[in-house]
Amino acid sequence: MSWPAETIARANDIIARYPERRSAVMPLLYMAMREEGRLTDEGMRLVAGLTGLTPAQVQSVASFYVMYKTESQGKYLVSVCSSISCFLLGADEVLHAVEEAAGLPAGEADDEIGIEHAECIGACGGAPACLVNYELVEGVTAAKAKEMIEWLRNAKPEVINADELQTLFGGRRSFDWAIKEDNGAIGPYPAFPPFGTAAHNTPALEPGRLATRNSRPATPEVGAS
Ligand code: FES
Repeated sequence: MSWPAETIARANDIIARYPERRSAVMPLLYMAMREEGRLTDEGMRLVAGLTGLTPAQVQSVASFYVMYKTESQGKYLVSVCSSISCFLLGADEVLHAVEEAAGLPAGEADDEIGIEHAECIGACGGAPACLVNYELVEGVTAAKAKEMIEWLRNAKPEVINADELQTLFGGRRSFDWAIKEDNGAIGPYPAFPPFGTAAHNTPALEPGRLATRNSRPATPEVGAS
């Protein structure tokens, strides 16, 4: 298995944003998921080669964080929070409605939709809350959750946007003054454009610093097609 040349170029572009190659491991793991629809051993080996980490180190990162999936999640991953605030305000009913509408139990996925329990997603003030491709919707009822699944099945949106989810299917929010979101998650899961945390918030590293600190030998032959 190898990645297309443009994917390798994109990976190297992301690596160049960081002082150390290994710091790019997390966005590269998302790229590995996107290439194959899930995280495979081969994908993790490619990430290891590109970052200079060992496969075991890459696997230890991937297995620590719940967003790295070794099984396909369909195009839309619906994460229903089941922690205490959401539980007390009806998360069980929301989850059952999602499972019934999708025709799937939590923990499973078909080609379009995956369902999972999530631990607190940081929206307790708007409980019960869900995520679709990690875009938030708060104040969800069982009836609205069912509508949301039917909308995903029928409309097949290319972009999942938290503001749109909230308008269509949400209720009470944690904060009325939340900053408007313009972009949303584009494309099938995993969908976090742009990959890499440094895309918008970090000025480009000056070339001298990059050359000095990001000087571990590259392994461009790994995964090159
Ligand atoms: S308990 Fe559900 S968002 Fe915190």
